[in-house]
Amino acid sequence: MCGIIGYTGYSEARGILLKGLKTLEYRGYDSAGVAVYHPDFKEVLVSKCEGRVEKLEMRTADVRGTAGIGHTRWATHGGVSDENSHPHKFGSVTLVHNGIIENYAAIKNQLGIARRLKSQTDSEVVAALIDNYYIDDPKEAIINAVKELSGTFGLGIMFDDVPNKLFAVRNVSPIICCQNEDGAYIASDIMAIGEYSEKYFVLPEFSIAEISADSIEITDFNGNAIEPEYLTLDWDIKNSGKCGYPFYMEKEIMEQPEVIEKTISSRIKNGAPDFTADNVDDSIFTDCDNVTVIACGTAMHAGLVGKHLIEKFCRIPVTVNMASEYMYNDPIINERTLVICVSQSGETIDTLEALKYARRRGAKSLSIVNVKGSTIARESENVIYTNAGPEIAVASTKAYTTQVAVFYLIAAKIAQLRELFDEERTAEFVGELSKIPAAVTDVLERRNDIHLLAKGMLTSEHTFMIGRGLDYSSLLEASLKLKEISYIHSEAFASGELKHGTIALITDQTPVIALMTQSDLQSKQVSNIREVQSRGAVVLTFVKKSLVQHGECSFELPDMHDDFMAIPSIIALQLLAYYVSSDKGLDVDKPRNLAKVVTVE
Ligand code: M6R
Repeated sequence: MCGIIGYTGYSEARGILLKGLKTLEYRGYDSAGVAVYHPDFKEVLVSKCEGRVEKLEMRTADVRGTAGIGHTRWATHGGVSDENSHPHKFGSVTLVHNGIIENYAAIKNQLGIARRLKSQTDSEVVAALIDNYYIDDPKEAIINAVKELSGTFGLGIMFDDVPNKLFAVRNVSPIICCQNEDGAYIASDIMAIGEYSEKYFVLPEFSIAEISADSIEITDFNGNAIEPEYLTLDWDIKNSGKCGYPFYMEKEIMEQPEVIEKTISSRIKNGAPDFTADNVDDSIFTDCDNVTVIACGTAMHAGLVGKHLIEKFCRIPVTVNMASEYMYNDPIINERTLVICVSQSGETIDTLEALKYARRRGAKSLSIVNVKGSTIARESENVIYTNAGPEIAVASTKAYTTQVAVFYLIAAKIAQLRELFDEERTAEFVGELSKIPAAVTDVLERRNDIHLLAKGMLTSEHTFMIGRGLDYSSLLEASLKLKEISYIHSEAFASGELKHGTIALITDQTPVIALMTQSDLQSKQVSNIREVQSRGAVVLTFVKKSLVQHGECSFELPDMHDDFMAIPSIIALQLLAYYVSSDKGLDVDKPRNLAKVVTVE
């Protein structure tokens, strides 16, 4: 949550900072600001405002200087206002902050600065604390201050009397650094600075980066030099624009055949799943008695599909846990538990903390992550990276389907290793999996039909989604997609459960979306559809081709084996949500109150 960018070098900083902030806006869009060292005034000048980066751009036309920091905010402490926007300046210290400082109120009292603060934020208190310790050694002041903080932080810091230098320090919240002949850059996210160098590193926790135009020096809190571990960017950042689509979400939906294919094909060798290139040892799949999936939101829904597959094909019990609840429920876990964390960003703090907890309790860990080098990836013993590429829209689409694709591979791998699949069955499973990109393309090519269905939902206030078995898991995700971007209240139900209470809410004003892709549940699902129709509901049916009866189908899904329908189904329902949102004239990519990366608990 919140985005940080920093630059010092030989070019004007303003353009670089604003460009970075525009890229980072998906991390929070309540307000934005920049602070740039002004060579004539010999101080760091702050410009910031509530609202989007575009507004800041207009307000900063005359900002000059070659070193600065910038921030785009998702409000936590203190409402959305100009004053609460970052950067914050206190005395000679100016900073931008990601994270939450839990003891900021105590520090505020201890410093006796309540009257001098301009904002209600925890971040301004950190600036005051550093300023309090600052005499003439910036690093010493930062170290002394940071030692007093409890909570999470990624900080970009400037001092009025240390021209053209930036400092960075972090705990949990990431800071990425890179350099080229034009200068040095920091950011909370590689997306913001990836275009400047394909080599970058993640600042180690509790170390300080001292950043000048020509160098980035890292030291630990005892002053010892640290050699950063460089990573290579393998995302095509240059193609990370909207490529002619009105919204990133549409572009990302359309990219799915390609990214699913990438995720699958690079991990199939001789007709069987193979994680050798991921350095994932087979033993993690054999030396476990149960699997615990931990994730949030969409990533957790991918875990539900994973549960269906692993339980069905591998006969191992799988629990799927909301990361935010996990460690508070005294989970049953031991060294024979395989924990699988799922996260697009690799930075979701609930998932990260749950992972650390599970590891402390002795579990083995594997994470399915999209962002290379992210914190969850580094905290896991094993990582399988999805090949989704950058996902910018807040609503997750291609990250989800590539996560599900990885679960298919994992299920096949475990079944093979445990001799539940012989060579032929494995090849058959993998063969069906390889057909998914074509099935997805088929759905995408008929997207106009889904667009027409969406038009009938624009004025709805509520909707229900019903399905059975695997379809119910897909609908939980479809329902989240619809509500987060269209603001239509939506609930997914296992069809058979509806009549145990919720059917009371069905009226002729309630559109119901019914998914039917599971052959053995067809007759039951048809009855459940009849039940809501007889209460007046208008039902939109998404039905697998071979299950369509008497032409009753609003959108025909391509035929695949039942267990492989999760991906084609969700693509159709992602499109439905997308068209409802865009036809309502909403900002599809930046839905209200949300941010792409959730780094607060
Ligand atoms: O980055 P993560 O996958 O860990 O994020 C988890 C959720 O915040 C995320 O999936 C969220 O539910 C989606 N943006 C919804 O579309």
